[in-house]
Amino acid sequence: MKVIVTASYDETCRVIAEMIAGLVNEKPDCKLGLATGGTPVPIYKKLIEMNKAGKVDFSKVRTVNLDEYCGIPGTHDQSYRYFMNTNLFDHINIDKANTFVANGMGDFEANARELEEKVREGGVADLQLLGIGNNGHIAFNEASDHLISVAHIEHLTESTIDANARFFEKREDVPTMAITMGMGDIMAAKKVVLAATGLAKVPAIKGLIMDDVITTQNPSTMLKMHSDAVIVIDKELAGAVGYQA
Ligand code: PGA
Repeated sequence: MKVIVTASYDETCRVIAEMIAGLVNEKPDCKLGLATGGTPVPIYKKLIEMNKAGKVDFSKVRTVNLDEYCGIPGTHDQSYRYFMNTNLFDHINIDKANTFVANGMGDFEANARELEEKVREGGVADLQLLGIGNNGHIAFNEASDHLISVAHIEHLTESTIDANARFFEKREDVPTMAITMGMGDIMAAKKVVLAATGLAKVPAIKGLIMDDVITTQNPSTMLKMHSDAVIVIDKELAGAVGYQA
């Protein structure tokens, strides 16, 4: 695992956007695993700027997203399909037919199986982008006494519902279940890039970068076993966890 400490969150996003653009330039038909949440928004903004400036071409890129809430359709403004369209896909030259976000409606189990197929289709992701939950979750693989390797339905923890309530009118509106890639799906990606900022992430990042323990109570710690995992944090977060480059 490699840890990169940047001067600011803006620099974190620039570094990651450049990593993604560099991969796309090297392999125009690469497969990207994408993430939602507050963290990746400025990364996507930078990719949009680069695409508009002619510095990166997404016309052949394929994407699969980590997860989707159960019970809200892709047209709902809090669905992850809607998020991806409005924060990235609508503004770049990607073919939406090459993008996949699990369907949050209908038969959830069948939708999870479809996600698993998409994870495998045409080979594993060349790069998987990740955020991290305050409890160390990656995608919606929640802290628990066990983790699941393949795509599945997850019941969200109170901590995750609290953290995501800011996007909804009221806390009761936050879906309590989600379809998510499993830990094995994420670990299978050739490269994993995790971005984190903000003091709410201190306990999770401490567990991830400050010791050698792997625990299902902080699912991100499994990335310690990945051969090409890159953790990008700003100096404020690095200082708060006591990390010295
Ligand atoms: P955030 O969420 O980017 O909104 O902090 C990260 C996550 O829950 O994985």
